[in-house]
Amino acid sequence: MALSWVLTVLSLLPLLEAQIPLCANLVPVPITNATLDLITGKWFYIASAFRNEEYNKSVQEIQATFFYFTPNKTEDTIFLREYQTRQDQCFYNTTYLNVQRENGTISRYEGGQEHFAHLLILRDRKTYMLAFNVNDEKNWGLSVYADKPETTKEQLGEFYEALDCLHIPKSEVVYTDQKKDKCEPLEKQHEKERKQEEGES
Ligand SMILES: *[C@@H]1O[C@H](CO)[C@@H](O)[C@H](O)[C@H]1NC(C)=O
Ligand SMILES: *[C@@H]1O[C@H](CO)[C@@H](O)[C@H](O)[C@H]1NC(C)=O
Ligand SMILES: *[C@@H]1O[C@H](CO)[C@@H](O)[C@H](O)[C@H]1NC(C)=O
Ligand SMILES: *[C@@H]1O[C@H](CO)[C@@H](O)[C@H](O)[C@H]1NC(C)=O
Ligand SMILES: *[C@@H]1O[C@H](CO)[C@@H](O)[C@H](O)[C@H]1NC(C)=O
Repeated sequence: MALSWVLTVLSLLPLLEAQIPLCANLVPVPITNATLDLITGKWFYIASAFRNEEYNKSVQEIQATFFYFTPNKTEDTIFLREYQTRQDQCFYNTTYLNVQRENGTISRYEGGQEHFAHLLILRDRKTYMLAFNVNDEKNWGLSVYADKPETTKEQLGEFYEALDCLHIPKSEVVYTDQKKDKCEPLEKQHEKERKQEEGES
C-alpha cells in the first residue's frame, strides 16, 4: 500500500511531551498569521529521512510531490491539494490540516487519531521543514519543502544540520526527482477549470 505525502509526514506516532534536542533549528516556533502567509501557495517536497520503518519505506516509493497550501487564519486550518507521483502515476488528493499555533505544529486527523509535526521555517523563508516525533529516537524524522523543485546548498545545508541533531547521516536522506513528475497535466487541467469557473461567476 502506497501512502500519500501527508499520510507519510503526518501519520507518524503523535508527539508526546516534546523533548527537543538542543539544536537551534529544531526548536519549535509558534505559528502566527505571518507564518501562515509564508506557507500559502505552491510547494515541492524535496527530501526526507525517517527512522520509523514504515515511513522510511513509503517515502522511497515517492518519485515527486508538489502541493498547494491554503490556510484559513480564522479557522486555523490549511486546505491541502496534493499532486504526488508514485509508480509513474499521478495521485491527486485534498484534505484539511489543523494548526496548533502556540505549539508550532500542524496536524492531520486520521485513523481516529491526530498526528502532529512541527513546522520549521528556514532562514531564506522559501524552504521549511516538518519535524516528526522529535522526542522518540527510534521514530523521529524530518522532511524538507521548497518553493522550487531545485534547492540551493544553503537551503539543504540547514536541513542537514537539523538531521545531524537527530543523528541521521546525510547518506540516509531520500530525495524526490521532479523530472519524474506525472502530475503536471492534471494541475494544468485544474487551473483551466478554475479559470472557467471564475469566468462564469
Ligand atoms: C531507511 O531504511 C533503510 C533500509 O532499510 C536503512 O538502511 C536506513 O538506515 C533507514 N533510514 C533511516 C533514516 O533510518
Ligand atoms: C475561513 O473559514 C471561515 C469559517 O468557516 C469562513 O467563513 C471563511 O470564508 C474562510 N476563509 C477563507 C479565506 O476561506
Ligand atoms: C490573524 O488573521 C485573522 C484573519 O485575518 C484575524 O482575524 C486575526 O485577528 C489575526 N490575528 C492576529 C494575531 O493578528
Ligand atoms: C486520498 O487520501 C485518502 C485518505 O488518506 C485515501 O484513502 C485515498 O486513497 C487517497 N486517494 C488517492 C487517489 O491517493
Ligand atoms: C500543545 O502541546 C501541549 C503539550 O504537548 C498539549 O498538552 C496541548 O494540548 C497542545 N495544544 C494544542 C492546541 O494542540
